[in-house]
Amino acid sequence: MSQPDPLQLTRTVLERIAKAPDPRFRVLMTTLVTKLHEFIREVDLTPEEWMAAIEFLTATGKTCTDKRQEFILLSDTLGASMQVVMLAQARASAAAPDGMQATPATEATVQGPYYWEGAPERELGSNIAEGVRGEPAYYHGRVTDTSGQPMAGVLLDVWSGDGEGVYDMQIEGQAEMLARARLRTDAEGRYSFWSIRPSYYPIPMDGPVGKMVSGIGQHPNRPGHIHFKVSAPGHVDITTHIFVANSPYIESDVVYGVRDSLIVEFQPRSPGRAPDGREMTTPYWTAEYDFRLAPARAS
Ligand code: BEZ
Ligand code: FE
Repeated sequence: MSQPDPLQLTRTVLERIAKAPDPRFRVLMTTLVTKLHEFIREVDLTPEEWMAAIEFLTATGKTCTDKRQEFILLSDTLGASMQVVMLAQARASAAAPDGMQATPATEATVQGPYYWEGAPERELGSNIAEGVRGEPAYYHGRVTDTSGQPMAGVLLDVWSGDGEGVYDMQIEGQAEMLARARLRTDAEGRYSFWSIRPSYYPIPMDGPVGKMVSGIGQHPNRPGHIHFKVSAPGHVDITTHIFVANSPYIESDVVYGVRDSLIVEFQPRSPGRAPDGREMTTPYWTAEYDFRLAPARAS
């Protein structure tokens, strides 16, 4: 059957999709095709532009390796990852049992490409960045549930770059983990560890996504932050960051990950006795942050 006009073509494609047996797949494909056809008509897309888009996606795929995921970077820099994170968190909190949401859970943000599973388990108070470049920082706080009850034994999986914004995974030949650890809260829900005060850094810009980011006139940087995955049985896991207040790029994160509630004032401290009793011979920073976990929906 011939297609008399572009709108009729859209209707014909949608009629075929309407036969998809899986209802969720049907919804996803219907909306995707509707919006894609609308986009093509709205911008009056030329064949050359469509081919450039196909070449861009092809190059994005070819840039992926077991150490580099250019499609996730694309999703991050288009704000798509953050949209998905925000919707997932809103869905989880809407599903929480009644009366269990006195205070909302800690806000989530993007995971990013530098998570490395299986970080060493460390004692509370350990220095997790021994030998790593950067100014020392003491991190501490509590984990509670959303009704304010302290949570013991909560797992915190922590990772960051060094004080110059470089992750261990980015260092050629670096086989061992740096500035990463898994810690568990004590009986009062407290956690503490030493690491470094993280610096801002650029995302990888030498691939097709870098070209796209430059093309829209966006700088490539993320503000200083340290990553956390916070998890406990019966609760909704949170993947998030603590951001360094006043870090360059805090207002213009290239992956849109900053949320005001995650920004922390790192306090400058002079050498001397640190809050955990450690004798510091150099200046250092302290950062305090409390995490809140929401109860998971009963299944
Ligand atoms: C990161 O925070 O590690 C990151 C997140 C998204 C893209 C690139 C890096
Ligand atoms: Fe990061």
